Amino acid sequence: RIAYVNGQYVQHSEAGIHIEDRGYQFADGVYEVCEIARGNIMDMTRHLDRLNRSLSELRIAWPMDRKALIVVIKEVVRRNRVYNGLVYVQVTRGVARRDHVFPAAGTPSSIVVTAKRTDPKASAARAAKGIKVITVPENRWERVDIKSIGLLPNVLARQQAKEEGAQEAWFIDPDGTVKEGAATNAWIVTKDGTLVTRPAENGILRGITRTTIFDVAKKLGLKIEERGFSVDEAKKAKEVFMTAATTVIMPIVAIDGESVANGHPGETTLSLREAFFDVAE
Ligand code: PDD
Repeated sequence: RIAYVNGQYVQHSEAGIHIEDRGYQFADGVYEVCEIARGNIMDMTRHLDRLNRSLSELRIAWPMDRKALIVVIKEVVRRNRVYNGLVYVQVTRGVARRDHVFPAAGTPSSIVVTAKRTDPKASAARAAKGIKVITVPENRWERVDIKSIGLLPNVLARQQAKEEGAQEAWFIDPDGTVKEGAATNAWIVTKDGTLVTRPAENGILRGITRTTIFDVAKKLGLKIEERGFSVDEAKKAKEVFMTAATTVIMPIVAIDGESVANGHPGETTLSLREAFFDVAE
């Protein structure tokens, strides 16, 4: 495997970052994960727009210009011969002697791009069964709209999910409202077939897959309501699912050990999943 690290294509097994990189010391950086489906990098423009937003919110400089980054991403995908898989892009505030304050102006940002293959058959098999979620209290900072590499609460929540026999954990506000998963956005389908997801203005990451679902729903003639929903409402919903570049659309069949509907993936969820790849590019 080949990785791109600060201007060079190197063997993945030998790729390294300096021990005083601010990503390593402070999680002072941001990232993107894009899906590659049948050789196409999905929603690249939206991912780069969100990367730009994350960088500017944290006042981290672009490591190279946008066009050059697109070339690098495509080159990493090509060199790794990824037809179905994921691209990972990480940018940090660069290398400097440890100090919480920003390094001197002009310190170059660090950039890493990697790509790996995934198995669409394994993903389809998971979707056919559906996955389980647990709920955990929201304990993250308020700026989860920034796709920061500081993911400790997410790591702990996912690990807890795994230890409890589930695949995702939902962060819940004190009033019982569902925020989002550790690495996915949360959705329900109401009895009348309306898709419901929390507004992305605050408290969640504006997922690219989430945005694309709006296009897919329009194509399928489905209504979307952007509003908060509680864990109780989700447990009683007709269908529940989650979205992310890594899983695309994944049905959720149990919440905290209670089955959703009949415990099987819902029709609407599966039709969205099928239509997704025709809309995104
Ligand atoms: N996670 N919410 C959170 C907290 C996320 O980390 C992610 C993505 C999403 C979904 O966003 P998108 O549709 O753009 O992938 C929502 C990535 C995939 C990850 O950390 O691996």
